[in-house]
Amino acid sequence: MKKVLFVSFESLPFVKTGGLADVVYALPKALDKNEFEVRVVMPMFKVVKEKYYQGMKYLDHIYIHSGYINEEANVYSYINEGIEYLFIENDTFFFRDGVYGYKDDAARFSFFNVAVLEMMIKLDYYPDICHEHDYHTAVLPALCKIRYNAIESIRNIKHVFTIHNLAYQGEYDKQVLFDYLAFDYWHYENGDLRYNDYCNFMKIGIHFADIVTTVSKTYANEIQTPEYGCKLDPILKYRNNDLYGIVNGIDVQSFNPKTDKSIAHNFDIRNYIVGKRENKLALQRSLGLKEDPDTLLVGMVSRLTFQKGADLILGALPEMLKGRVQIAILGTGESKYEYSFKMLEEGNKGRCVYYCGYNEGLAHLMYAGLDMLMMPSLFEPCGISQLISMRYGTLPFVRETGGLKDTVEPLNE
Ligand code: GLC
Repeated sequence: MKKVLFVSFESLPFVKTGGLADVVYALPKALDKNEFEVRVVMPMFKVVKEKYYQGMKYLDHIYIHSGYINEEANVYSYINEGIEYLFIENDTFFFRDGVYGYKDDAARFSFFNVAVLEMMIKLDYYPDICHEHDYHTAVLPALCKIRYNAIESIRNIKHVFTIHNLAYQGEYDKQVLFDYLAFDYWHYENGDLRYNDYCNFMKIGIHFADIVTTVSKTYANEIQTPEYGCKLDPILKYRNNDLYGIVNGIDVQSFNPKTDKSIAHNFDIRNYIVGKRENKLALQRSLGLKEDPDTLLVGMVSRLTFQKGADLILGALPEMLKGRVQIAILGTGESKYEYSFKMLEEGNKGRCVYYCGYNEGLAHLMYAGLDMLMMPSLFEPCGISQLISMRYGTLPFVRETGGLKDTVEPLNE
């Protein structure tokens, strides 16, 4: 039996800011239990502590000395749907309202990576494979191979590093490598840790992991080009032999139109025509749109960012609204997009609705009730919304890029 440890900053049901949390939740569940013993380790954020602390089991206490960082932490365990989650509790770094976006993020990420290794030593638990996700956990392979390499059980761990989005890299002043991670200057000087004159966590992960994966085949190819490589294409090219694109899946139990309690009418392949129609009417009703099964209802469930093609949609909507069409947008994001969608709603009352916020129940009803889902991302490592929409019989309307290209078949090439 191989021991696998997922190392991540987010996972459902505990905390989610993006698709990463869906994957770190769904993938451990999907791995064969006869072959792999999977655990997940993540920080104990405020939201997690408030909701799950009561049900957790205290395991141990650890000390983290790393450069200027001198901290303590507790390790807790919690079983969710048969998967053991390990939580690193340190209130200085993690008892905050958000997950990322703090001035001391570099110290928080560094602390967590070192804490995971101190946890292994204290619990005498050494996985065969560590699976690190995105730049927040990307320095772990380097720590194992440099600072902790005297410990055989740590030196022998194999590392799979998955890039969920190359656009976010964790680029900091080079002092982070010495002040928070206590690496020696030699490994900076020789080029292993440095990226130009900076510390770049993503680059370190790509350089030191045994295998690098990303979340679709097309994206794996795209990121080796200057257009999509976010300046790391030369490094990805040089790891080309160990770089794999493996497309994401969704948890088909959480997203099942036959059993989904958030939608108005459950349905499957045999009664989807009635099912889709009932959900469409319910969606129109709940959004204050005219109830009409024959008007094309087009929508978007997304973070409103540049990546997701918000500009393309805003450019096309005035023209689209000349036809017999209703528009429903759900999501938050950059304020300029939120403002533009609000304005668009103002000018098209009753035909265009913008729900500014996140509402899980409404999102499910949209997947079930829309005719078409718009997802014209400029780049998309994999994308989850298009997969969910297809599960609910809603046509995804996508750009041919990354995972969108690999998962949505073109109607007319
Ligand atoms: C990121 C990517 C998205 C991907 C998700 C999970 O959010 O932008 O394309 O589906 O990670 O891998």
